[in-house]
Amino acid sequence: MFRKLSSRWLKRIGALWLGCLLVLALGYFPSQAQDSAAVWEVGTEPTFPPFEMKDEATGNVIGFDIDLINAIGEAAGHPVKIISLPFDGLIPSLQSKTLDAAISGMTITAERAQTIDFSRPYFEAGLAIAVVEGNDSIQSFEDLKGKRIAVQIGTTGAEKAKEVEGATISTFDGAPLALQELLNGRVDAVVNDLPVTLYAINEANLKGIKIVGELLTEEYYGIALPKGSENLATINAALGELIENGTYAEIFGKWFAGEPPDLPEIAPALSSGTASGLDWGLLFRNLMRGAWVTIMLTFFSFLFGLIGGSLVAFALISPFKPLRWLCRVYVDFFRGTPMLVQLFMIYFGIPALFQGLGFDVSFNRFFAAVLALSLNVAAYLAEILRGGIQSIDRGQWEAAESLAMNPIETMRYVVFPQAFRRILPPLGNEFITLIKDTSLAAVIGFEELFREGQLTVATTYRAFEVYLAVAIVYLVMTSIASMVFKRLEAYMDPIGRSEKQRKAAAKPAPLGA
Ligand code: ARG
Repeated sequence: MFRKLSSRWLKRIGALWLGCLLVLALGYFPSQAQDSAAVWEVGTEPTFPPFEMKDEATGNVIGFDIDLINAIGEAAGHPVKIISLPFDGLIPSLQSKTLDAAISGMTITAERAQTIDFSRPYFEAGLAIAVVEGNDSIQSFEDLKGKRIAVQIGTTGAEKAKEVEGATISTFDGAPLALQELLNGRVDAVVNDLPVTLYAINEANLKGIKIVGELLTEEYYGIALPKGSENLATINAALGELIENGTYAEIFGKWFAGEPPDLPEIAPALSSGTASGLDWGLLFRNLMRGAWVTIMLTFFSFLFGLIGGSLVAFALISPFKPLRWLCRVYVDFFRGTPMLVQLFMIYFGIPALFQGLGFDVSFNRFFAAVLALSLNVAAYLAEILRGGIQSIDRGQWEAAESLAMNPIETMRYVVFPQAFRRILPPLGNEFITLIKDTSLAAVIGFEELFREGQLTVATTYRAFEVYLAVAIVYLVMTSIASMVFKRLEAYMDPIGRSEKQRKAAAKPAPLGA
């Protein structure tokens, strides 16, 4: 057993090392983005209207930032190619130089300036609090104490919310998701950039949300570049030119009413502050906390999935045609659509639907995640169980019948024990897949293992070390699970077991006994 185990572990550790080597080797190849002299690859997170958003008609990214960077590219003689990325992926991409620049309503902060370079400020903004219209209990930053706040991951809004005492913070991948959470009644407030929340209220017709209190911060947006990038001077010169010749004001007028304010040449934030380095002890504690949530999610989803899956499996082999048909539709739907879509549908879609119908429904995050995961797992397990049961030879049923067993007894004593052995390996696979799939719950702001990693990267910008650590924790969990299932299989194997018993019996009795 030990020899077998260690060789499996050796293989796993080998695979891990191979992965690391590959990543390191890739790092040595000069990045393409830098070589192609002409085109600038510029990253953005396109759910931040009016700065960047998808044009519904054409599918292109449009917005103030996009017009501005195109104008800068034109002035500097570089065509611009826009690349869409998650907001918390922009700085790591700049660090690895897979992007030439990023323009994404990104605030110039001293922390960020330690790992990337910023152009001169191109927009003046600040953070504001948004609440639902009927809410009069929150009027200022102080009133947020102990409240539930939604923010976008990796943003200055997320940092600001951390300063609130006793608040429960949920982080989302996009500002619109955070606002949807507010509308769905699961949080009390959203801390986000004022122009974006205003735009959502006025232009995107987000009814029922208002801004309260004063601006929490004064922020300046800058174009972000890899540290030491030679394009910095070019971009600054082009930006200066556009401000001088009125092109900047023209673009400003297109997206915002009125005249642009005067911009400083250096962001005031750059005179103070330091990046929070990577604290390994803290990382470990955060990952363990996340791992616990992952385990809980897996455990409950698998449990409910198993119960549901068994019911569906029996329904699938039952003689009732409509029931069979209904279960088929269910299984096909949940197997045939991405889990991520199911998660969004259940978490954001269903409450929105009910609210549209005039009911005040919103469910708890854990419930939504477990519900979505269990429904998905049950669909897979139902097929596995059905296949297992149907793989047992007809003759077994007949033999049991001739022993005067009723169908329930036959199932209990003859068919199921044999079927169970056959379904154990695919069951184990399903369990391991589930452990990994729980990471999808991160998108609904669930702080499971992967999200904990993301949150750490969002403040330390150490993507490689942190995600490697996250991967190792997952690997440990899946390895333990696979070991447990292997053991269970060995235990359930009647041949292996009687062999063992025979060996044990053949051992000479200890002397003097
Ligand atoms: N200004 C804020 C920050 O820099 C939020 C920017 C979010 N941008 C976006 N495209 N989602 O943190």
